[in-house]
Amino acid sequence: MQEKMEQKSNTGDIIDFILLKRVMQFAVPYRFYFIVAAISAILLSFLGPIRPLLINYAIDNYIIIPNQEGLLKISIVLIFILILEGVFQFFYIYLSTWLGQHIIQDLRSKIFKHILSLKMKFFDNTPIGTLVTRSISDIETIADIFSQGLLVIIAELLKLIVVVLLMFYTDWRLTLIALLTVPLLLISTAWFKKNIKRAFQEVRTEISNLNTFVQEHIVGMHIVQIFNRENAEYKKFVDVNTRHRDANIRGIFYYAVFFPIVEVLSAMSIGFIVWYGGQGILQAKDNTVGELIAFILFIHMMFRPIRQLADRFNILQMGIVGSERVFKVLDTDEKIKDIGKVSFKNIKGSIVFKNVNLFYKKDECVLKNLNFNIESGKMLALVGSTGAGKTSIISVLNRFYEIDSGTISIDNININDISIKSLRKEIALVPQEVFLFSDTILNNITLYDDNISKQQVIEAAKEIGLNDFILSLPNGYDYILAERGAVLSLGQRQLIAFLRVYVRNPKILVLDEATASIDTENERLLQAALEKLSVNRTTIVIAHRLSTIVNAHKILYLENGSVIESGTHNELLKKKGAYFLMFNSQSASSKF
Ligand code: CTP
Ligand code: MG
Repeated sequence: MQEKMEQKSNTGDIIDFILLKRVMQFAVPYRFYFIVAAISAILLSFLGPIRPLLINYAIDNYIIIPNQEGLLKISIVLIFILILEGVFQFFYIYLSTWLGQHIIQDLRSKIFKHILSLKMKFFDNTPIGTLVTRSISDIETIADIFSQGLLVIIAELLKLIVVVLLMFYTDWRLTLIALLTVPLLLISTAWFKKNIKRAFQEVRTEISNLNTFVQEHIVGMHIVQIFNRENAEYKKFVDVNTRHRDANIRGIFYYAVFFPIVEVLSAMSIGFIVWYGGQGILQAKDNTVGELIAFILFIHMMFRPIRQLADRFNILQMGIVGSERVFKVLDTDEKIKDIGKVSFKNIKGSIVFKNVNLFYKKDECVLKNLNFNIESGKMLALVGSTGAGKTSIISVLNRFYEIDSGTISIDNININDISIKSLRKEIALVPQEVFLFSDTILNNITLYDDNISKQQVIEAAKEIGLNDFILSLPNGYDYILAERGAVLSLGQRQLIAFLRVYVRNPKILVLDEATASIDTENERLLQAALEKLSVNRTTIVIAHRLSTIVNAHKILYLENGSVIESGTHNELLKKKGAYFLMFNSQSASSKF
């Protein structure tokens, strides 16, 4: 569906100059190079058409009337012009590509920086594939505007004008004869332009479909295999793959028809010229052999730009469509307002939630008028059924999402008045789903923070009993995790995340326990790590295994975004309510 929508925006026929102007703004820092490339292109469009003129002159004045010396001179001039053309061509090709690459490098950095600043809600609603396409292949089409689009169009158009003018200058009658095929040429060009554009769009859509399909199925491979869906998925893939092939072949079909048509028309024009001009020579009227040969060369020079222009306008248009998509991402302003001025110096870490309400979607209240507080250095536990809103509570505490009403304060300061950087520095999170980058264990722990040395990491690992485990991996701390850390178990990943947090020594610790049960060895390690980490820190633990939190200072039992029970472990057991039932069912199952 995504792709269909994109296709729709592609159908505008006129070039959007506002977008083009915006793209051109990215060339401003490189204007010197742009100007040199443009001048080279312009000079080239003049230099080329001079050659037939000189050849015309040479034939009529130095060959038909033999003149060795004159012929030599004019040959030297011709060679000189050719060398000049070569030099300008070099500057033109090299600089226009250089320019395109520099511009997209800047744009890519800009878009990535922008993506880094967007809020979680944006990512909830935007598919990863879309953002990857925007910052990789859509940007690529913008480079083509510079390396293959704009300058080529200017140069070829100029060349076309110069050639036609020179033709008229040489002989207007022959020129009109040569232009006889132009109406046919215009019709076939229009046909080609229309069809090739559609074909290009189809190819792009199919490439995107192919990408999405392969990416999704590799990520979800375990589902494919465990449900024995290999054959079915293979068949689906063959379909997508076939559509991609057919789209490409359709595109090539139009080229294969259009290019020979242009060849034939150009040959026809030459035929007309030879027939008409030849008669002129035979009847000793005003045509000369030199003119005839010059015209044959001119016709070649005239048809080439026409053929190119149809193709290049397309590339320019594609680039502009690409830029529209890229700018759309750059123009999204979905950021968390970071206007807080307070920066923590000596944070104590007491937290108060007052009348907090949160909506992810308009009519779905996820946190309902929530009130609770945690004193500095104490441990608060959150329990409750799945979807109750536990993760949401910590997401609003570190301002991944913004609450709709109420206040959250740390040390009596509203978190909106604290700079996000300072806030997140003090709150360390061990998330429910630990994300590990495809990098070494060490880099996954330090996250390239220069303030954290390897020695510190090793010390910390020893303290929370993780050093032996890491050393048991091949290469120890330098063990490179494959994508997403898939080679480690869930519990092991959480332990790495613990270490990430521990080396940063935050005042507030948040642990969102993984739902999946983990083996007793890892559970013991996690428990020990938590005990170690929670000393002198305000700690919030979201627990699925209640054994983790029997010592918590306060436990909140949540249901549908509201606290329905609160107290210590023993107090809650005495109440014989929801917590009591949950505890009993867990201790019953652990006996077997
Ligand atoms: N939700 C949402 N958008 C998000 C995150 C959550 O709409 N970005 C919704 C979920 O659909 C759910 C509710 O918010 O209905 C609470 O989600 P969450 O706080 O993540 O629930 P938890 O209590 O953490 O559930 P679990 O025990 O499964 O982790
Ligand atoms: Mg959760």
